[in-house]
Amino acid sequence: MKVLVTGGLGYIGSHTCVELSKKYSVVIADNLINSKIEVLERLNSIAHSRVIFEKIDLRNKKEVAFLFEKHGDITGIIHFAALKAVGESVEKPLLYYENNINSLLNILEQVQQLNSEINFIFSSSCTVYGEPLNLPITEEEPIKKAYSPYGETKQICENIISSSSKLNMNLKSISLRYFNPIGAHESAAIGELPLGKPQNLIPYITQTVAGLREELTIFGNDYNTPDGTCIRDYIHVTDLANAHIKAFEYLIEKEFSTNEVFNIGTGKGTSVMEIIKSFQDCTGKKVNYKIGKRREGDVDATFAENNKALDTLSWSPKYSLEQALKSAWNWEKNYRKLNNE
Ligand code: NAD
Ligand code: UD1
Repeated sequence: MKVLVTGGLGYIGSHTCVELSKKYSVVIADNLINSKIEVLERLNSIAHSRVIFEKIDLRNKKEVAFLFEKHGDITGIIHFAALKAVGESVEKPLLYYENNINSLLNILEQVQQLNSEINFIFSSSCTVYGEPLNLPITEEEPIKKAYSPYGETKQICENIISSSSKLNMNLKSISLRYFNPIGAHESAAIGELPLGKPQNLIPYITQTVAGLREELTIFGNDYNTPDGTCIRDYIHVTDLANAHIKAFEYLIEKEFSTNEVFNIGTGKGTSVMEIIKSFQDCTGKKVNYKIGKRREGDVDATFAENNKALDTLSWSPKYSLEQALKSAWNWEKNYRKLNNE
């Protein structure tokens, strides 16, 4: 079976391609807007079968039509490709709406023209919940107005997929709402590779320890949490990658068109302070940090109720927080060619 992975050279996509390649033949479509071509070689060095790469801008209808013409024999699509920087989306909302929504529309337009069944998985985010009313967050949590254009694109894309699945009997779909993916493949051949200054906590920590950044700023320690720093649900990227395989297999087994959503998190909340302490304990490296102002849009605490994925998809996270943090550091060291054990 052939699976199309959009955004497959990105952080989560590349890890998912490795897991997919154990059973499926994989075609990546990516325009490299937020990834590097070197990832393809790194990915193929650990993939179980060679993945194919097509440089395609999914905003471009003609390029997407060409992609489907060439690979019309796909049985599944995992749609990772999107822009994902929350802050940038506030500054450039049109870019985010155009990229994230048009890419999806172009793909679904092609899917509609196929006469075969398509199992479709969409990368959604816990950001669709905004400030949660209840913790842990279940899939029943009401969806409120998004905080950012990025979050809004995730809500809109989920709705587009749901409406399309109702009309297209060949389309079976799942939106996976990721919590906070961290860490890297155990080989340290691939990992998170932010272009420019990292926006997320873990790459900021590893780059600080690697000497690329002076110090980490903790965005506020006056939140309504036990130690005052924000709580998040950090999940190892390989566990997240495997959730896609389980979701894909679940869709294949389904006889009829369907559209479902699942939280993918560990169910455990960890504060920024706890992350720093765990990182220091499991790597033996000191993290230089200071306490700074709150970052706009951050919520006190989010963590998942993941029972739906556990029960329905027979998925469960396997890696501990320490393993995830250690793998993030191993990747940073490997990538920067550091040998300061
Ligand atoms: P990433 O930026 O590393 O990967 C996305 C990939 O998509 C990149 O390789 C980029 O070049 C490609 N891409 C973007 N627009 C494209 C276009 N128009 N045509 C072709 N390729 C395009 O991001 P990631 O962290 O791997 O995230 C993957 C998906 O998961 C995204 O949809 C993101 O919104 C979602 N998500 C990520 C997180 C997270 O913390 N990383 C959390 C929740 C949801
Ligand atoms: C961010 C996005 C969210 C997206 C998620 C996964 C924002 C506001 N939210 O979530 O939409 O779904 O990534 O991609 O950008 N922190 C620091 N210092 C730093 C970096 C982060 O203290 O230099 C703190 C943050 O305040 C937060 C925690 O670390 O409390 C995690 O931050 P981050 O990795 O950016 O993820 P989220 O904010 O949860």
